[in-house]
Amino acid sequence: MMTRSPQSQPAATVRDVPPYTRLAPVYDAVMAHVDYAHWAAYAHGRLQRHHPDPQTLLELGCGTGALAVELQPLGGYDYRATDASADMLAVARATAEERDVPVRFAEMDFTALAVDERFDAVVLLYDGLNYLQEPPALQALFRGAHDALRPGGVFLFDQSTPVNSINNAQLFDDAGEVDGIAYERRSAYDPATRTHVTTFELTVDGRTYRERHVQRAYTPDEIRAQLRATPFEQVAAYDNFSTAPATDASERIHWVVRRPR
Ligand SMILES: C[S@@+](CC[C@H](N)C(=O)[O-])C[C@H]1O[C@@H](n2cnc3c(N)ncnc32)[C@H](O)[C@@H]1O
Repeated sequence: MMTRSPQSQPAATVRDVPPYTRLAPVYDAVMAHVDYAHWAAYAHGRLQRHHPDPQTLLELGCGTGALAVELQPLGGYDYRATDASADMLAVARATAEERDVPVRFAEMDFTALAVDERFDAVVLLYDGLNYLQEPPALQALFRGAHDALRPGGVFLFDQSTPVNSINNAQLFDDAGEVDGIAYERRSAYDPATRTHVTTFELTVDGRTYRERHVQRAYTPDEIRAQLRATPFEQVAAYDNFSTAPATDASERIHWVVRRPR
């Protein structure tokens, strides 16, 4: 009888699944380092600064609604929040209900926005833009955001820059366990293509699932050039949650652009 060497034992199968499916239930725990109350206060402050009286707000890529439940009460906004992931939205809906925050959620790809109303502000925070691999997708996002705004309305969005990927690569890797779901996060950045790949392995009930998140780190000049090709007026580019202008050393940039009146 032949004995199987340890090497010949079948490896545990890892099933590839789309981003934000298996991650959704543990997303808030994985992002526990993010101070969403602070982010909301910053976004609210920038909206108040650049719009005379923002009342209606459309959030894109809202994920689990962590920003929405903090930001809506600050302005008493009539708040609509969208995301492409049904699994993230399921968490978002439950959180908003639990916190009793009035937010209307809808599943929507932000490169193909279809909204039947116009807003004073559109907001997209925390790397949603980085998921867009090619400039035509950026143009689709910008076109949709523009058309969703009332004249004079503002679009506030952020981007993670190549500097962030280079400076903080080691911070992106971690592992942990939440509610019986073990996760491991690894990231790799290729400076030649400025592609940042984050891989999550999530193990639940003995089964392991892998999500591969591919993002692109655009330079500030690339974003500026893409914005010039839109009808938007460029209003401000802020360095990382500050009111100081962004520079080539910025790790995160908050852009504010306006639909002309
Ligand atoms: C890093 S998460 C950020 C979520 C949330 N904004 C936050 O601050 O926690 C990125 C989100 O963008 C969403 N997303 C990525 N590409 C998208 C697209 N084309 N349309 C809509 N949502 C998208 C993902 O589903 C995910 O929820």
